[in-house]
Amino acid sequence: MLVTSGRLSKVLQLTLAVIKPDAVAHPLMLEALHQKILDNNFVIVRCKDLVWRRQDSERFYAEHSGRFFYQRLVEFMSSGPMRAYVLAREDAIRHWRELMGPTKVFRARYTVPSSIRAQFGLTDTRNTTHGSDSVESAQREISFFFPDFCAEQWMEKEEPLFRSGPIHYDRQNQIHTLSAHS
Ligand code: RTP
Ligand code: MG
Repeated sequence: MLVTSGRLSKVLQLTLAVIKPDAVAHPLMLEALHQKILDNNFVIVRCKDLVWRRQDSERFYAEHSGRFFYQRLVEFMSSGPMRAYVLAREDAIRHWRELMGPTKVFRARYTVPSSIRAQFGLTDTRNTTHGSDSVESAQREISFFFPDFCAEQWMEKEEPLFRSGPIHYDRQNQIHTLSAHS
């Protein structure tokens, strides 16, 4: 399926997005979230399903150690399969966080009822998705989940090509690729 041609004019930014175990446990929810990513004009650069060991969870959330929710967060994030994405879009970090909505599910339901966390979130811990909150954390988090992916190289070599298009959605691998002969 040909997705776009010259649609993306501003420089693309990368972010890490994660669908957390509460949502991956429900195939229809996972499918709906994947579709939401596509519908919101993100380029899916990488996509992988994985399960964390407790140590991975502790390391990833080290900045929150000592907070009252740390133990339950660490336990939850290593409790079952999740899905990680490298997404690209102009202003990807802000757009993905806007789409997720506020961290706390009840606040999300009141203030941004159309957001992912409002629609799918269960509790303040089981809140469906994660998104990087800055360029620095996106870099750190992308290499945490995708150690073989070099963001710097992608920005230099691939970004201009993905931006000018045309790009193609590969249904089987659930990622976007550059169309042949582009
Ligand atoms: P995230 O990192 O998952 O994208 O979410 P965020 O920036 O909106 O929230 P952050 O403050 O970084 O918290 C990370 C995750 O910790 C859990 N949490 N639980 N029970 C609570 O009050 C509480 N507060 C945070 C959530 O899973 C949150 O996404
Ligand atoms: Mg955060």
